Amino acid sequence: MSSVFGSVPILAMVVIQLLLIRSVSSLNLTNAYLHHKCINTEGKYKQGSDFEKNLNLVLSTITSIGNFRDGFRYTEEGEDPNNVFVMFQCRGDSYWSKCPPCISTAVSGLRRRCPRNKGAIIWYDQCLLKISSVGSFNKIDYENDFYVSNPNNMSDRELFNKETSALLEKLAYKASDRNNLDGKQLVLYAAGEKRIGTNKVYAMVQCTKNLIFTKCLECLEGILRKFPECCDGKRGGRVLGTSCNFSEGKYKPGSKYEYILNDHIRFLAAQNFRSGSMHMTSGLKPNAVTILYQCRGDSYKSKCRACYAAGISGLRRRCPRNKGGIIWFDQCFVEITSVSAIDFNISKINYENNFSLHNPNKVSGDIKSFNKETVALLEELTLKANSKDNMDDGKMALYASGEKRVGTKKVYAMVQCMRDLVRPKMCKECLESIIKEFPKCCDGKQGGRILGTSCDFRYELYPFLRTSDSTTVG
Ligand SMILES: *[C@@H]1O[C@H](CO)[C@@H](O)[C@H](O)[C@H]1NC(C)=O
Ligand SMILES: *[C@@H]1O[C@H](CO)[C@@H](O)[C@H](O)[C@H]1NC(C)=O
Ligand SMILES: *[C@@H]1O[C@H](CO)[C@@H](O)[C@H](O)[C@H]1NC(C)=O
Ligand SMILES: *[C@@H]1O[C@H](CO)[C@@H](O)[C@H](O)[C@H]1NC(C)=O
Ligand SMILES: *[C@@H]1O[C@H](CO)[C@@H](O)[C@H](O)[C@H]1NC(C)=O
Repeated sequence: MSSVFGSVPILAMVVIQLLLIRSVSSLNLTNAYLHHKCINTEGKYKQGSDFEKNLNLVLSTITSIGNFRDGFRYTEEGEDPNNVFVMFQCRGDSYWSKCPPCISTAVSGLRRRCPRNKGAIIWYDQCLLKISSVGSFNKIDYENDFYVSNPNNMSDRELFNKETSALLEKLAYKASDRNNLDGKQLVLYAAGEKRIGTNKVYAMVQCTKNLIFTKCLECLEGILRKFPECCDGKRGGRVLGTSCNFSEGKYKPGSKYEYILNDHIRFLAAQNFRSGSMHMTSGLKPNAVTILYQCRGDSYKSKCRACYAAGISGLRRRCPRNKGGIIWFDQCFVEITSVSAIDFNISKINYENNFSLHNPNKVSGDIKSFNKETVALLEELTLKANSKDNMDDGKMALYASGEKRVGTKKVYAMVQCMRDLVRPKMCKECLESIIKEFPKCCDGKQGGRILGTSCDFRYELYPFLRTSDSTTVG
């Protein structure tokens, strides 16, 4: 039997447990069954087959060898086509002697719930166990995840979601930090707690030990994105798109460029975010750094500051050391580029990076009239955004939101331009051209948007803005 400890990336499973009221450590006392999945596509093995012999050999010895100091094992037994892969991971606070009892429970649970399945996974509070006839190399297993959610609704869902996601994100970084070591091994586990209103949330995140830290973070982020409430459009933090500009090249650690970049990032973070927008260059060619951001019209000040910070860290993660990159969230976009102040043509509308998103579902009823009415709403908002009376913080707002009844539905919409557009008619021109693209992105769709760096629009059949200051149009 060959045991591989953490060195070969095979398959990743991630656990995020979120608990209300109970503390993570109080869970030492329990080991509840959580969930199982029989992977039926792998089929069943026959009694007396080589596969069964190999499986039994692994499962009968799996808890009798080693000290379980990292609570993880990946084992392979037998020859193709009868090889068996077994992996288990105990929870970060259940290593050493606490681990084998959980695995023993999992082995008998798995045999009972998925009899003679070649592939199966079972989760308990303190461990997970997977058997398979397939070794999936270097691949994050996103298919086999599940949620156990608390049926009770939080009194302030939005706050709860926001704070909880922030906690999980913090833990994800901590868990996947390459300096977070136990001896020479990556810990890939973090637990923490946070008071949210009158509740306290306890959370943990963990990756299986076959992952290197970058894969662990990638995997955790994938799961965090699915955090059920992430997608109701009410909170930021969800990345809509990233574009790394590889043609601008990479900068070297310790370079002058890096120094100027970091300094510029800090400088902008210290500004007030009152106007929700920034376009500023620091340094001279070839070390010029330009940063632009635009927050959504309902998300200025502290909300904008938070989105800027998320944008900067998102870019660092997704476009590591790229001199150029853009990231979009619901509530802002942030762009970094090495184009200098002189070379940046501020008289030019930038359509280069526009892209669209839409709700895959179509509206019921008269689609033609829905399209027509929605486009009309967007056009009215374009005029409103560009009206001279529409001022914010002493500058033209270049933002408008509104709602309109269309048949039996209500459409909520917004339009916005980057506030650095120097000539006012640029905003109108930009919005008019992207609204022309409506049939391509949004034909009859229940929600849609086109995003870019000069202007954007969005509509939904539910109120997605934070404030209720939108006016009824038409
Ligand atoms: C749970 O386990 C952790 C790690 O082994 C330990 O530090 C903690 O004190 C334990 N908590 C309880 C309640 O046993
Ligand atoms: C929680 O909210 C959802 C959606 O608003 C509702 O369907 C569900 O019944 C609520 N659950 C409880 C326990 O109140
Ligand atoms: C990427 O950078 C190059 C060089 O600075 C620039 O010409 C180009 O427009 C940029 N591309 C995008 C998509 O921003
Ligand atoms: C900047 O863009 C405008 C509009 O596209 C164009 O007319 C002008 O020539 C550009 N300026 C430079 C210096 O490229
Ligand atoms: C982006 O804008 C350009 C120019 O207006 C257009 O050709 C392209 O189709 C747009 N893309 C999307 C997704 O709207």
